[in-house]
Amino acid sequence: MSVSPHQIADAARILREGGLVAFPTETVYGLGADATSDRAVARVYDAKGRPRFNPLIVHVPDLAHAERLGVFGREARRLAEAFWPGPLTIVVKRRADCPVSLLASAGLDSLAIRVPDHPVAHDLLAALDRPVVAPSANPSGKVSPTTAEHVRKGLGGTVAMIFDGGACAVGLESTIVSFLEDEPRLLRPGGLAREKIERVLGHALVTSGDEAQPNAPGQIESHYAPRAQLRLDADAPQKDEAYLGFGPSYKNGANLSPSGDVVEAAANLFRMLHELDATGAKRIAVAPIPSTGLGEAINDRLKRAAAPRSSA
Ligand code: TXA
Ligand code: MG
Repeated sequence: MSVSPHQIADAARILREGGLVAFPTETVYGLGADATSDRAVARVYDAKGRPRFNPLIVHVPDLAHAERLGVFGREARRLAEAFWPGPLTIVVKRRADCPVSLLASAGLDSLAIRVPDHPVAHDLLAALDRPVVAPSANPSGKVSPTTAEHVRKGLGGTVAMIFDGGACAVGLESTIVSFLEDEPRLLRPGGLAREKIERVLGHALVTSGDEAQPNAPGQIESHYAPRAQLRLDADAPQKDEAYLGFGPSYKNGANLSPSGDVVEAAANLFRMLHELDATGAKRIAVAPIPSTGLGEAINDRLKRAAAPRSSA
């Protein structure tokens, strides 16, 4: 299953131009896109038919690249040094100058990062020299692919290039550990056993669901909400409201997609909400968004962002 430098260069070019490339990792095949491009990241959600914008994992060739994107404390770095490249994803705070699309982290100020252990993935990431988002390369709700043939069957029509790197050695998604709180927390069990991680740390990992309250902080935090109140399905702003338009009828000001394209709207969603929030507006009114294609995910996120804040 050898891959030529030529193919790697082709794939890097496709990614640089905003296209999608499916590539093998040691866990499962990933559906890769340039993590710094809002448009390319929106295409990933579109191709997978994701009804929601879950934050995506950003792939880099080594720890040095990872440290340009996120803030690694002592323990996060220790795990990276022990297990990268390998089936471990580390969630850390985004650096202020992090170039990764806000859509990739679903509007959060954190980032999930990993260094995959596969020669094709490594060569591609090194050649591109940009971070790559890569969810599993399957349509949403379907089983993760562990061969190129699985990817072809599921996503063949929508991906510019599918690398064949043979069967994935691990066959299970990476283990995700978050360093956003005082203690490292296991967010998703996966290809790296918890015991191995705990041995390196010298203490137990907190597990979501350990606490008495039903919602782990990590889960609450994974719902990005602007400071401003949101009013949805608004045809026009009222007095004192900032407005986020959609479609050709709203010409002045922030518009998710003047042409009414939901993929473009998805690409702009989190960035524009952040920008409007930063103006200090108390309320943001958002135009109606069609619920077809990525519109479903956009409306899902908007509804969560508009929901009354609970202190729980
Ligand atoms: O093995 C893997 O990790 C594969 C291969 C292709 O690398 N990728 C993968 O990606 O499983 P994906 O998109 O299916 O998993 C993303 C998950 C999200 O559902 C979420 O649980 C977590 O990663 N995640 C991403 N960003 C996060 C963040 N900022 N905070 C907390 N969790 C995050
Ligand atoms: Mg998946």
